[in-house]
Amino acid sequence: MTPRPALQHGATIAAARRTLTDSLREANLDSPDLDARLLIGHALGLEHAALVSSSDRILTAPEIALIESFGARRLRHEPVAHILGRKEFWGLEFTVSADVLVPRPETETIVEAALELLGAQKMQPLRIADLGTGSGALLIALLQEFPNATGIGTDISRAALDVASANVWTHGLNKRAAFAVSDYGAALPGGYDLVVSNPPYIPTADIAGLEPDVRNYDPVLALDGGADGLAAYRAIAADSRRLVAPGGTLVLEVGVGQADAVNALLVEAGMAVLLPARADLAGIPRAVAANHVYVSG
Ligand SMILES: C[S@@+](CC[C@H](N)C(=O)[O-])C[C@H]1O[C@@H](n2cnc3c(N)ncnc32)[C@H](O)[C@@H]1O
Repeated sequence: MTPRPALQHGATIAAARRTLTDSLREANLDSPDLDARLLIGHALGLEHAALVSSSDRILTAPEIALIESFGARRLRHEPVAHILGRKEFWGLEFTVSADVLVPRPETETIVEAALELLGAQKMQPLRIADLGTGSGALLIALLQEFPNATGIGTDISRAALDVASANVWTHGLNKRAAFAVSDYGAALPGGYDLVVSNPPYIPTADIAGLEPDVRNYDPVLALDGGADGLAAYRAIAADSRRLVAPGGTLVLEVGVGQADAVNALLVEAGMAVLLPARADLAGIPRAVAANHVYVSG
């Protein structure tokens, strides 16, 4: 492979974008144009429009060095979100670090499902729990959508909860959100109107075969779902009738091909599964939902 051309002294912003895009494309990385734009914008502190309008500006030597270092990191498959330290989810910006999963677009399906199922109660003071909250993305998106709700996010990783806490403050939700180190919902009192979770669901043996962007940069705690990928669902399902208030709703993200198995675990636990699972934008069944049916007498 020919060596990657370094940015020359006197290079303009436009030249840097071309050079970095070409390098990322040669390395077969997805979306080389977008990545180059985001990385150069981050290095220069410029949004897209400003980057375009100043495309003829000549870069300083420190700017070139910073762009090259970001480019080198991306060429080692470090995700753009990690280099930027932030990621958008549900139209909101989240701080991310090596301690949390970078929020994924498919997880927005959980927010959509919750809105569909509880939309009529939008203004109610709902109590929400997010098990394995990571960056806090799901909990924060839900608190934005349900303006009178309060919520608690749990995680087994205290470092993840520090990131979630910072995000809650950024979004001005600190009065409505709390966090607890907990094995899923074990440390919670229970009785929530809405419980959501995007737990780790990759079978342990599959982790080594994941893309390097995921395998080397997302925390293994956020990925490893045990031998069959279903360990977290077993724990959550077993506790579901305590965690979810009678009449309340549980929404779980599932991996490819896991919806039926997770539905079966919930039925076995006495929950009423709401079929079918809501699909993500790729058509993959992604959000499994169930109610804690209240039986009087
Ligand atoms: C797939 S990530 C999801 C993060 C975030 N909810 C999201 O959707 O972007 C799973 C999260 O579960 C946490 N986790 C793993 N095992 C756990 C356990 N036993 N109890 C609570 N959280 C756990 C991980 O630390 C990680 O933050």
